[in-house]
Amino acid sequence: MDVGSAVSKVSKRQYEPYLKASWGLLNHWYPALFSSELGENEVKGVTICGVPLILRRVHGKVHVLRDQCVHRGVRMSIRPMCLTDDTITCWYHGYTYNMETGRLETIIAAPDDEIVGTTGIQVFPVEEVNNLIYVFVGEPGYEPIPELRLDLPPKLENPVHPVAHPLDTDTMILGVRRTANANWRLGVENGFDPGHQMLHRDAAIVLARDTALPLGINPTDPRAITAYEDEDGPKGMMNEWNSGFYDLVMANERLNIKAAGNNPTVGLRTSMYLPGVLMVENWPAYGLAQYEWFVPIDDKTHEYWSVIAAKASTEEERKRFQYDFDYLWRDQALIAFNADDVFAREAMENFYEEGGPGWDDEQLCGMDAIIVAWRKLVSRHAREIQKPQRNPSPKLAE
Ligand code: FES
Ligand code: FE2
Repeated sequence: MDVGSAVSKVSKRQYEPYLKASWGLLNHWYPALFSSELGENEVKGVTICGVPLILRRVHGKVHVLRDQCVHRGVRMSIRPMCLTDDTITCWYHGYTYNMETGRLETIIAAPDDEIVGTTGIQVFPVEEVNNLIYVFVGEPGYEPIPELRLDLPPKLENPVHPVAHPLDTDTMILGVRRTANANWRLGVENGFDPGHQMLHRDAAIVLARDTALPLGINPTDPRAITAYEDEDGPKGMMNEWNSGFYDLVMANERLNIKAAGNNPTVGLRTSMYLPGVLMVENWPAYGLAQYEWFVPIDDKTHEYWSVIAAKASTEEERKRFQYDFDYLWRDQALIAFNADDVFAREAMENFYEEGGPGWDDEQLCGMDAIIVAWRKLVSRHAREIQKPQRNPSPKLAE
C-alpha cells in the first residue's frame, strides 16, 4: 500500500458518521425557496434530504407540510388544491389537512369517516428572512427547535470591509439556485476546497478584474484552520488565506504555469458551517459576501444555492445592488464562475456514489487537510444523520 492511500484509510475511521450521511443531516435549517419564488397563495413542492415538502403562502405567511398524503402517498404539490385559507386538500380523493397543525380535518366526499381527526401530516418550522425561506427539516417531535442562527455562519468582525450577514436587518440577498447531479458532500467539499482555485483561473470575472487568484492555497500551520465549536454557536470552520499560515501558490515552475492577474485577493476568508453553508468574505467584491448552500435532495443530487449578500439600508443602495446583480454578479459570478464548481462536483459523482470506490480509494494530500477536518467536525456535531429514503419523485414537483 502506498503512503497516500494509507493516510486516507487511517483518518477515515475518524469520520464514520459523515460517510453514512449520503442523504444529508437531519434536524437542521435549510433554504427551501427564495421569497420571490412563492407569491401570495402560491403552492410549491421541494425535496430536502429525501423529505417531500409542500410550501404555501397565505396572508404573507409561509406554511410548510410534508408533501405526502397519508391516504395513498401522492405528492399534493403536483396538483395544488386549496379550498380555504387554512387548509390544503389532496387533489386525489380530497383528504384535507389543517396547515397549522397538519391534522386531517375532513375528506371532501367522506366528511364523517372515522379516520378524520385521528391522523395528519408533519408540519415544519419556517423562518423567512431577507428573501430566503428557511425550513427546519427535522424528525417529528424534535425539540427544542434550534435557532436559525445556529445553522448559519456567525457574524464576522472585519474592520476593513465588513460584510453583510443573512440575518441582519440592513442585508439584501439576491442569488440563484440550480440542481447539481452530485451528492451534497461533494458540493460542500468543493465549495471551500483550498486546492481547487486553479480551476477558476480562466473565469471571465477573474480576467476582467485582473485578479491574482492563487493556483492553490496550502496550509502550512495547524492554526491555518479555525474550528468553531462553542456550545451556543454555529459549528464550522474558517480558513484565513492571508493569515500567514498558508502558502498562496502563484506558480508552478515545472509546468510553467502562473496565476493570471495583478490584483491580489486581500482579507478574503472562507468558512463552512453545518449543515453545509459556505461563506466567502469580500467576494465577488469588497463589501459583499457570497453564501452558498448545498442542500441534499436525495443521495445523488443537491440543490446548489449561491447568493450574494450586500449591506443596503437605503432605497438607493438597494437599487444599486439590484442593478449590479442583474448586469454583473448574476451571470459573471454566480452562473459562470460557479459553473466550474458544478462541473467538478458532477465529475466526481461516479467515483463517490453509494457503493462506489471513492470514499475508500481517494488519495488525499496536504492541501486536503481542511476537507478531512470538515468531515470530522460534521461527525462530531451533526444533530442526526438522515437515513436512506425512498425517492419521492422530485422531478414531478419541480
Ligand atoms: Fe390523497 Fe387519496 S391519495 S386523498
Ligand atoms: Fe470554486
